[in-house]
Amino acid sequence: MKEWTLAERYRVLEDKSQIEELYSRISRSDYRQAYHVQPITGLSSDPNGFIYHKGQWHLFYQWCPWGAVHGLKYWYHVLSKDLIHWENKGIGLAPDTFYDNKGVHSGSGFSYDSTLYLFYTGNHRDENWVRTPYTCAAKLSDSGQASKLPRPLFGPHPDYTEHQRDPKVVYHEEKQRYYILLGAQSKEGKGKILIYTSKQLLAGWTFAGELKVPGYEDFGGMWECPSIAHLGGSDVLVFSPQYTKIPGRNANTNHTVYLIGRMDYDSLTFTAEGPCRCLDYGFDFYAAQFAANVQDKNKAVLTAWIGLPDNHYPTEEEEWEGSLCLPRELKIRNGRLLQQPVEQVKELRQEKLQINQQQNLPRVCELEAVNKGTDFRLSLFTKSDGSGGLEIHYDAKSNLCHIDRSQMDQRFNQELGEELTLPLETPLTYLSVFIDRCSVELFFNQGEATFTTHLYPTSQESFYTVSGELDLEIWTLKKAVKDSFIV
Ligand code: FRU
Repeated sequence: MKEWTLAERYRVLEDKSQIEELYSRISRSDYRQAYHVQPITGLSSDPNGFIYHKGQWHLFYQWCPWGAVHGLKYWYHVLSKDLIHWENKGIGLAPDTFYDNKGVHSGSGFSYDSTLYLFYTGNHRDENWVRTPYTCAAKLSDSGQASKLPRPLFGPHPDYTEHQRDPKVVYHEEKQRYYILLGAQSKEGKGKILIYTSKQLLAGWTFAGELKVPGYEDFGGMWECPSIAHLGGSDVLVFSPQYTKIPGRNANTNHTVYLIGRMDYDSLTFTAEGPCRCLDYGFDFYAAQFAANVQDKNKAVLTAWIGLPDNHYPTEEEEWEGSLCLPRELKIRNGRLLQQPVEQVKELRQEKLQINQQQNLPRVCELEAVNKGTDFRLSLFTKSDGSGGLEIHYDAKSNLCHIDRSQMDQRFNQELGEELTLPLETPLTYLSVFIDRCSVELFFNQGEATFTTHLYPTSQESFYTVSGELDLEIWTLKKAVKDSFIV
């Protein structure tokens, strides 16, 4: 694995010619995806500024241009009319001011009065590498040019550590006030959300207080990327607690969870009305973000980073890694989120495969499996003799689904565990699987549980095996994300 110096990681991108060779090399990788947003070069991590504005979906990802390493972060901009076909638009926000000299970190978007606003964390470091996080804003013109406000909206709160970031802006109609939810860490090292409020979007922000989340006062050491949506009469709070283990989640200490309940902006309390659940039960899923301002108020769409902090993936050798999961539409049923890939993904279906003896598995495809509610084993990316692969084993008696990626040729992040089990609410009758060269996303029943993982099959790993009463249909899928070299 390459050792990066600080200077290499924090190098400023001065001209696109500096990464052109890297881009053309990476474009030839077998693992470049066809319908997922992925970095043009280097590393992509959190989704940022996800928003519907003037008939288009804007999405940005945290981008480090130089390689698969967390260093100087930019917001890279992609645009779509339907949440499935994405085009590269180039850098949305660059670390080019005093306040963000060491990175434009995560944040959200807001559309108001035909203007698109971006709220982000300016990651400032001084010559002694001491960090000061600023909450900043910019406007994005229709042609994609950002103009940053000359000063931050506010700086760090003195009662918390340097970990204060990832502003999520919401508007409260009754109160006619804006609120920012900010991920934070208390001086005792506990994960928190701070709330700021203002009557105006770009000025007058004051600290309202710390969000109380009864029952979750001591849950992890930092809460990254808070996001909130009002859905089906309830509020859904999503955040990424760090530095803590969750039973059944192996040695992993980075998670993305949700609570369904009531958000009270008077008492600054989020009261959960059910348990805290993993938003996704897979190995690689983090920093989820709701799109703000969806046309229909009863609709919520979310995406997340297919990856985790402090993890390493085989494409590091090729100097890129990371992608964003398929945008998911959310509903609430029986106090639980249902997540489904947005409807438009169906348009990508190309050829329906004959299910034959050979059981070849295309690298870019969708599988639909209907089960009678009984036990089954489905192994994806097995070798021609049926060995190996990603095993999905459903046990009807316990209603648990066990997933094991340890039999793949390319193993990674082994020390964090290669097997996971996900609990289901209802017997497993329907499974939909989206495969895209280096990622697999599983949606169980109507999306009552999901499982996202990276996977790097070799050329021999191109078959599948199935046992149990599973009716399978497989479609190849069309390319939907244009990978043009636009910086
Ligand atoms: C989450 C995160 C955010 C931060 C960003 C920096 O992955 O650590 O809290 O803003 O990444 O890239």
